[in-house]
Amino acid sequence: MAAPLLEVRDLVMHFPVKSRGVIARTVGHVKAVDGVSFTVEAGQSLGLVGESGCGKTTTGRLITRLQKPTSGQILFEGQDIAQAGPRVLKPLRREIQMIFQDPYTSLNPRQTVGEIVGAPLVIHKLVPASQRLARVQELLEVVGLNPEHYNRYPHEFSGGQRQRIGIARALTLQPKLLVADEPVSALDVSIQAQVINLMQDLQREFNIAFLFIAHDLSIVRHFCPEVAVMYLGKIVEKAPRDELYEHPKHPYTKALLSAVPNIEQAVLGGRRERIRLQGDVPSPINPPSGCRFRTRCWKAQDICATTEPPLQKVGAGADVAACHFPEQ
Ligand SMILES: Nc1ncnc2c1ncn2[C@@H]1O[C@H](COP(=O)(O)OP(=O)(O)OP(=O)(O)O)[C@@H](O)[C@H]1O
Ligand code: SF4
Ligand SMILES: [Mg+2]
Repeated sequence: MAAPLLEVRDLVMHFPVKSRGVIARTVGHVKAVDGVSFTVEAGQSLGLVGESGCGKTTTGRLITRLQKPTSGQILFEGQDIAQAGPRVLKPLRREIQMIFQDPYTSLNPRQTVGEIVGAPLVIHKLVPASQRLARVQELLEVVGLNPEHYNRYPHEFSGGQRQRIGIARALTLQPKLLVADEPVSALDVSIQAQVINLMQDLQREFNIAFLFIAHDLSIVRHFCPEVAVMYLGKIVEKAPRDELYEHPKHPYTKALLSAVPNIEQAVLGGRRERIRLQGDVPSPINPPSGCRFRTRCWKAQDICATTEPPLQKVGAGADVAACHFPEQ
């Protein structure tokens, strides 16, 4: 059997925390990503969901190798790129692209749209200069922008249009994998659906695999047949979409879901009970012992403080969860 497009094994990113003073010493580590494993098959999409600060963006930046992980493996078509140097990475940069959260800061304001979208073609010397403009215009058309606007600057576009420019830039090199980091959270709700639909069409047309990062479970539901939930640097549950939404196994997933309005249930009159999590997310510098969720979990017992629950199969389906007392 062929290797999956992307397989991440036990990925770790610890950022050193330095003391102030003339001689800065490392006084601790932010455990931003702390042993994360998952697989994305070609043309498929995995949703990665969790509260602010749980390590989603860091995971995305490691996979696209904008950052080098502390440890762990990132197997792209079977090749481990976790510690690869620039020579190995350059050709891979074509295959793995990222769409950023903020369409206002991720585009260079001094470059025209044509320069932004065409830059990867120049860097990778893919298309002769004489054909570059035609390719850029083709890409603008694919993402629903006016191809005649290649000479305009980012500030002349709305937020939704800018995100389309970011998507066009990511598509320029015909990647196999797109890491989309909260691609619509900065946009008006009315525009979000359009941009999501665009990405879905592109995914089907070009068979692109997605790692779709969001903090809102309702957005990934439409996009991803499989969803992983992160908490404080770890995946606490991963499951096929319907199983996760209908029968969450981990208390944290249940709490996240209770905040998502469910139209079907509202119509039937049976609102999901809203779970209010106590306290704040603990610091990733010094996460709780045992289960990291235990300081906010209403089901916590003694064992939760002493023994870390492994991510394992719960129930009859494909659902895996890291909890000593999963929901049944
Ligand atoms: N370069 C860095 N140096 C030190 N700490 C960092 C760095 N980048 C991220 N962190 C920390 O790592 C943790 C995870 O951050 P990350 O941005 O990955 O979270 P996130 O899930 O994307 O959050 P959000 O939903 O707010 O985007 C946070 O505590 C953050 O402060
Ligand atoms: S292991 Fe314990 S603390 Fe952690 S989620 Fe399960 S019940 Fe709650
Ligand atoms: Mg983020």
